[in-house]
Amino acid sequence: VTPARTQSRLPTVFLPARRTPPTASLESDVRTALNKLYDTTPCMPIMVRLAWHDAGTYKVADGTGGANASIRYLPEKGHAANNGLNIAMDLLEPIKAQFPAISYADLYQLASVVGIEHSGGPKVPFRMGRTDAGEADTTEDGRLPDADKRMGHLREVFYRMGLNDTEITVLSGAHTLGRAHQDRSGFDGPWTKVPVVFDNSYFVEILKDEPDPDLLRLSSDLALLDIPETKALCEKYANDQKAFFDDYILAHQKLSELGCFST
Ligand code: HEM
Repeated sequence: VTPARTQSRLPTVFLPARRTPPTASLESDVRTALNKLYDTTPCMPIMVRLAWHDAGTYKVADGTGGANASIRYLPEKGHAANNGLNIAMDLLEPIKAQFPAISYADLYQLASVVGIEHSGGPKVPFRMGRTDAGEADTTEDGRLPDADKRMGHLREVFYRMGLNDTEITVLSGAHTLGRAHQDRSGFDGPWTKVPVVFDNSYFVEILKDEPDPDLLRLSSDLALLDIPETKALCEKYANDQKAFFDDYILAHQKLSELGCFST
Protein backbone atom coordinates (compact mmCIF):
# COMPACT_ATOMS: atom_id res chain seq x y z
CA VAL A 1 0.00 0.00 0.00
CA THR A 2 1.53 3.26 -1.06
CA PRO A 3 1.41 6.18 1.32
CA ALA A 4 -0.64 8.10 -1.26
CA ARG A 5 -3.29 5.36 -1.33
CA THR A 6 -3.44 5.23 2.46
CA GLN A 7 -4.07 8.94 2.53
CA SER A 8 -6.87 8.75 -0.02
CA ARG A 9 -8.66 6.20 2.19
CA LEU A 10 -8.64 8.45 5.22
CA PRO A 11 -12.20 9.44 6.13
CA THR A 12 -13.14 12.99 5.35
CA VAL A 13 -13.32 14.99 8.54
CA PHE A 14 -16.06 17.59 8.75
CA LEU A 15 -15.18 20.34 11.18
CA PRO A 16 -18.16 21.68 13.12
CA ALA A 17 -19.26 25.15 12.08
CA ARG A 18 -17.68 27.89 14.20
CA ARG A 19 -20.30 28.72 16.79
CA THR A 20 -18.61 31.54 18.68
CA PRO A 21 -18.77 34.83 16.81
CA PRO A 22 -15.27 36.28 16.40
CA THR A 23 -16.16 39.32 18.53
CA ALA A 24 -16.88 37.08 21.53
CA SER A 25 -13.32 35.83 21.73
CA LEU A 26 -12.00 39.32 20.94
CA GLU A 27 -14.02 40.72 23.82
CA SER A 28 -12.81 38.05 26.20
CA ASP A 29 -9.16 38.49 25.10
CA VAL A 30 -9.39 42.26 25.63
CA ARG A 31 -11.03 41.72 29.03
CA THR A 32 -8.07 39.53 30.03
CA ALA A 33 -5.61 42.22 28.90
CA LEU A 34 -7.51 44.92 30.81
CA ASN A 35 -7.60 42.86 34.01
CA LYS A 36 -3.85 42.32 33.65
CA LEU A 37 -3.34 46.07 33.29
CA TYR A 38 -5.46 46.74 36.39
CA ASP A 39 -3.51 44.13 38.41
CA THR A 40 -0.34 46.16 37.93
CA THR A 41 -1.77 49.68 37.49
CA PRO A 42 -4.99 50.36 39.43
CA CYS A 43 -6.20 52.90 36.89
CA MET A 44 -9.83 51.68 36.91
CA PRO A 45 -11.29 55.05 38.07
CA ILE A 46 -9.80 57.12 35.26
CA MET A 47 -11.06 54.55 32.72
CA VAL A 48 -14.59 54.96 34.09
CA ARG A 49 -14.22 58.73 33.73
CA LEU A 50 -12.82 58.38 30.18
CA ALA A 51 -15.77 56.26 29.03
CA TRP A 52 -18.28 58.60 30.66
CA HIS A 53 -16.74 61.71 29.07
CA ASP A 54 -16.66 60.07 25.63
CA ALA A 55 -20.34 59.04 25.86
CA GLY A 56 -21.57 62.11 27.73
CA THR A 57 -21.37 64.46 24.74
CA TYR A 58 -24.52 62.83 23.37
CA LYS A 59 -27.41 65.03 22.30
CA VAL A 60 -30.61 63.04 21.98
CA ALA A 61 -32.32 65.77 19.91
CA ASP A 62 -30.02 65.40 16.92
CA GLY A 63 -28.11 62.17 17.65
CA THR A 64 -24.71 63.89 17.72
CA GLY A 65 -21.99 62.82 20.14
CA GLY A 66 -22.02 59.62 22.16
CA ALA A 67 -19.72 56.69 22.81
CA ASN A 68 -17.70 56.92 19.61
CA ALA A 69 -14.12 57.63 20.78
CA SER A 70 -14.28 61.16 19.37
CA ILE A 71 -12.59 62.22 22.60
CA ARG A 72 -9.27 61.23 20.93
CA TYR A 73 -9.47 64.29 18.71
CA LEU A 74 -8.92 68.00 19.26
CA PRO A 75 -10.66 70.21 20.14
CA GLU A 76 -12.71 67.76 22.26
CA LYS A 77 -9.58 66.19 23.76
CA GLY A 78 -8.44 69.64 24.85
CA HIS A 79 -11.69 70.68 26.55
CA ALA A 80 -11.09 71.57 30.19
CA ALA A 81 -13.52 68.86 31.36
CA ASN A 82 -11.25 66.25 29.76
CA ASN A 83 -8.03 67.31 31.50
CA GLY A 84 -5.94 64.27 32.39
CA LEU A 85 -7.86 61.82 30.23
CA ASN A 86 -4.89 61.58 27.84
CA ILE A 87 -3.35 59.41 30.62
CA ALA A 88 -6.18 56.90 30.29
CA MET A 89 -6.04 56.92 26.47
CA ASP A 90 -2.26 56.39 26.52
CA LEU A 91 -2.58 53.47 28.95
CA LEU A 92 -4.99 51.77 26.53
CA GLU A 93 -2.80 52.20 23.42
CA PRO A 94 -0.76 48.98 23.95
CA ILE A 95 -4.02 46.99 24.23
CA LYS A 96 -5.36 48.60 21.04
CA ALA A 97 -2.04 47.72 19.35
CA GLN A 98 -2.32 44.12 20.54
CA PHE A 99 -5.98 43.81 19.44
CA PRO A 100 -6.42 46.20 16.49
CA ALA A 101 -9.78 44.65 15.58
CA ILE A 102 -11.52 46.29 18.56
CA SER A 103 -12.71 49.83 17.92
CA TYR A 104 -11.47 52.54 20.24
CA ALA A 105 -15.08 53.25 21.15
CA ASP A 106 -15.62 49.65 22.30
CA LEU A 107 -12.23 49.59 24.03
CA TYR A 108 -12.96 52.72 26.09
CA GLN A 109 -16.38 51.45 27.18
CA LEU A 110 -15.08 47.93 27.87
CA ALA A 111 -12.20 49.38 29.93
CA SER A 112 -14.83 51.07 32.10
CA VAL A 113 -17.11 48.07 32.67
CA VAL A 114 -14.13 45.77 33.32
CA GLY A 115 -12.72 48.44 35.68
CA ILE A 116 -15.96 48.45 37.66
CA GLU A 117 -15.99 44.64 37.90
CA HIS A 118 -12.30 44.63 38.85
CA SER A 119 -13.12 47.01 41.72
CA GLY A 120 -15.82 44.72 43.13
CA GLY A 121 -18.72 46.43 41.37
CA PRO A 122 -21.54 44.89 39.35
CA LYS A 123 -21.20 43.27 35.94
CA VAL A 124 -22.62 45.76 33.47
CA PRO A 125 -23.85 43.98 30.31
CA PHE A 126 -21.67 44.86 27.34
CA ARG A 127 -22.26 44.80 23.58
CA MET A 128 -19.45 45.12 21.04
CA GLY A 129 -20.01 47.04 17.80
CA ARG A 130 -19.42 50.76 18.34
CA THR A 131 -18.00 52.65 15.38
CA ASP A 132 -15.13 55.10 15.78
CA ALA A 133 -15.71 58.71 14.83
CA GLY A 134 -13.12 60.20 12.51
CA GLU A 135 -13.09 63.57 14.24
CA ALA A 136 -14.13 65.33 17.43
CA ASP A 137 -17.87 65.29 18.11
CA THR A 138 -18.33 68.96 18.50
CA THR A 139 -16.33 72.13 18.68
CA GLU A 140 -18.79 73.21 21.36
CA ASP A 141 -17.25 72.95 24.84
CA GLY A 142 -19.56 72.50 27.83
CA ARG A 143 -21.55 69.40 26.91
CA LEU A 144 -20.36 67.76 30.15
CA PRO A 145 -21.62 68.86 33.58
CA ASP A 146 -20.00 71.55 35.64
CA ALA A 147 -18.99 70.46 39.16
CA ASP A 148 -19.79 73.86 40.66
CA LYS A 149 -23.46 73.78 39.72
CA ARG A 150 -26.59 72.29 41.25
CA MET A 151 -29.59 70.23 40.16
CA GLY A 152 -31.00 72.61 37.54
CA HIS A 153 -27.76 72.42 35.58
CA LEU A 154 -27.40 68.64 36.01
CA ARG A 155 -30.92 68.17 34.68
CA GLU A 156 -30.23 70.39 31.68
CA VAL A 157 -27.09 68.43 30.77
CA PHE A 158 -28.32 64.89 31.49
CA TYR A 159 -31.77 65.44 29.94
CA ARG A 160 -29.94 66.58 26.78
CA MET A 161 -28.28 63.13 26.76
CA GLY A 162 -31.69 61.48 27.22
CA LEU A 163 -31.01 60.50 30.84
CA ASN A 164 -33.45 61.02 33.74
CA ASP A 165 -33.27 61.91 37.44
CA THR A 166 -32.75 58.30 38.58
CA GLU A 167 -29.94 57.93 36.07
CA ILE A 168 -28.31 61.21 37.20
CA THR A 169 -28.41 59.99 40.79
CA VAL A 170 -27.30 56.41 40.33
CA LEU A 171 -24.52 57.27 37.86
CA SER A 172 -23.13 59.87 40.27
CA GLY A 173 -22.48 56.84 42.51
CA ALA A 174 -19.51 56.08 40.22
CA HIS A 175 -17.70 58.65 42.39
CA THR A 176 -17.30 55.72 44.78
CA LEU A 177 -14.18 55.20 42.65
CA GLY A 178 -11.20 57.49 42.25
CA ARG A 179 -10.48 61.05 43.20
CA ALA A 180 -10.19 64.59 41.96
CA HIS A 181 -6.75 65.95 41.12
CA GLN A 182 -5.83 69.59 41.69
CA ASP A 183 -3.94 69.80 38.39
CA ARG A 184 -6.81 68.30 36.34
CA SER A 185 -10.04 69.79 37.66
CA GLY A 186 -8.90 72.15 40.41
CA PHE A 187 -10.59 69.91 43.00
CA ASP A 188 -8.70 67.57 45.27
CA GLY A 189 -9.35 64.28 47.06
CA PRO A 190 -11.51 61.15 46.97
CA TRP A 191 -15.24 60.88 47.70
CA THR A 192 -14.87 57.71 49.76
CA LYS A 193 -12.38 56.14 52.16
CA VAL A 194 -11.56 53.21 49.86
CA PRO A 195 -11.63 54.68 46.34
CA VAL A 196 -10.46 51.49 44.62
CA VAL A 197 -13.60 49.63 45.72
CA PHE A 198 -16.89 50.08 43.87
CA ASP A 199 -19.62 50.02 46.52
CA ASN A 200 -22.41 52.28 47.85
CA SER A 201 -20.13 54.30 50.15
CA TYR A 202 -20.49 57.45 48.00
CA PHE A 203 -24.15 57.71 49.07
CA VAL A 204 -23.32 56.91 52.71
CA GLU A 205 -20.75 59.74 52.75
CA ILE A 206 -22.79 62.46 51.03
CA LEU A 207 -25.70 61.87 53.44
CA LYS A 208 -23.61 62.36 56.60
CA ASP A 209 -24.51 65.53 58.51
CA GLU A 210 -20.87 65.91 59.52
CA PRO A 211 -18.76 65.64 56.35
CA ASP A 212 -15.51 63.67 56.71
CA PRO A 213 -12.84 66.40 56.36
CA ASP A 214 -10.66 64.11 54.23
CA LEU A 215 -13.36 63.46 51.65
CA LEU A 216 -14.61 65.50 48.71
CA ARG A 217 -18.15 66.71 48.07
CA LEU A 218 -18.66 68.66 44.86
CA SER A 219 -21.64 71.01 44.49
CA SER A 220 -22.86 68.58 41.82
CA ASP A 221 -22.78 65.75 44.40
CA LEU A 222 -24.71 67.76 46.98
CA ALA A 223 -27.13 68.70 44.21
CA LEU A 224 -28.60 65.21 44.53
CA LEU A 225 -29.92 66.24 47.94
CA ASP A 226 -31.61 69.34 46.49
CA ILE A 227 -34.89 67.67 45.58
CA PRO A 228 -36.86 65.09 47.58
CA GLU A 229 -36.99 62.46 44.79
CA THR A 230 -33.24 62.25 44.20
CA LYS A 231 -32.51 62.58 47.93
CA ALA A 232 -34.80 59.60 48.57
CA LEU A 233 -32.87 57.61 45.96
CA CYS A 234 -29.57 58.51 47.68
CA GLU A 235 -31.01 57.20 50.95
CA LYS A 236 -32.22 54.02 49.27
CA TYR A 237 -28.79 53.37 47.70
CA ALA A 238 -26.98 54.16 50.99
CA ASN A 239 -29.13 51.58 52.79
CA ASP A 240 -29.27 48.94 50.10
CA GLN A 241 -26.21 48.21 47.96
CA LYS A 242 -28.12 45.70 45.85
CA ALA A 243 -30.67 48.35 44.91
CA PHE A 244 -27.76 50.62 43.93
CA PHE A 245 -26.11 47.93 41.80
CA ASP A 246 -29.42 46.92 40.14
CA ASP A 247 -30.16 50.50 39.03
CA TYR A 248 -26.50 51.22 38.25
CA ILE A 249 -26.27 48.34 35.77
CA LEU A 250 -29.19 49.66 33.72
CA ALA A 251 -28.04 53.28 33.73
CA HIS A 252 -24.41 52.49 32.96
CA GLN A 253 -25.27 50.23 30.04
CA LYS A 254 -27.49 52.97 28.62
CA LEU A 255 -24.72 55.57 29.07
CA SER A 256 -22.18 53.26 27.44
CA GLU A 257 -24.36 52.87 24.34
CA LEU A 258 -25.45 56.49 23.78
CA GLY A 259 -25.59 57.15 20.06
CA CYS A 260 -24.33 53.66 19.14
CA PHE A 261 -27.01 51.04 18.52
CA SER A 262 -30.43 51.33 16.94
CA THR A 263 -31.98 48.84 19.43
C1 HEM B 1 -13.88 62.40 38.61
C2 HEM B 1 -17.21 65.87 38.00
C3 HEM B 1 -20.53 62.49 36.94
C4 HEM B 1 -17.09 59.12 37.08
C5 HEM B 1 -14.50 63.63 38.52
C6 HEM B 1 -13.86 64.90 38.78
C7 HEM B 1 -14.80 65.86 38.62
C8 HEM B 1 -16.03 65.22 38.25
C9 HEM B 1 -14.59 67.36 38.80
C10 HEM B 1 -12.39 65.07 39.15
C11 HEM B 1 -11.48 64.94 37.93
C12 HEM B 1 -10.02 65.03 38.33
O1 HEM B 1 -9.65 66.04 38.92
O2 HEM B 1 -9.26 64.07 38.06
C13 HEM B 1 -18.42 65.24 37.72
C14 HEM B 1 -19.69 65.93 37.60
C15 HEM B 1 -20.63 64.98 37.33
C16 HEM B 1 -19.94 63.70 37.26
C17 HEM B 1 -19.93 67.42 37.74
C18 HEM B 1 -22.10 65.23 37.18
C19 HEM B 1 -23.01 64.48 37.78
C20 HEM B 1 -19.86 61.32 36.75
C21 HEM B 1 -20.41 60.12 36.17
C22 HEM B 1 -19.43 59.18 36.20
C23 HEM B 1 -18.27 59.77 36.81
C24 HEM B 1 -21.83 60.03 35.59
C25 HEM B 1 -19.45 57.76 35.69
C26 HEM B 1 -20.54 57.06 35.44
C27 HEM B 1 -15.96 59.71 37.64
C28 HEM B 1 -14.81 58.97 38.13
C29 HEM B 1 -13.88 59.92 38.56
C30 HEM B 1 -14.49 61.22 38.34
C31 HEM B 1 -14.67 57.47 38.19
C32 HEM B 1 -12.50 59.66 39.18
C33 HEM B 1 -11.42 59.76 38.12
C34 HEM B 1 -10.02 59.51 38.65
O3 HEM B 1 -9.85 59.01 39.76
O4 HEM B 1 -9.07 59.80 37.90
N1 HEM B 1 -15.82 63.85 38.20
N2 HEM B 1 -18.61 63.92 37.51
N3 HEM B 1 -18.55 61.07 37.10
N4 HEM B 1 -15.75 61.05 37.81
FE1 HEM B 1 -17.20 62.46 37.73
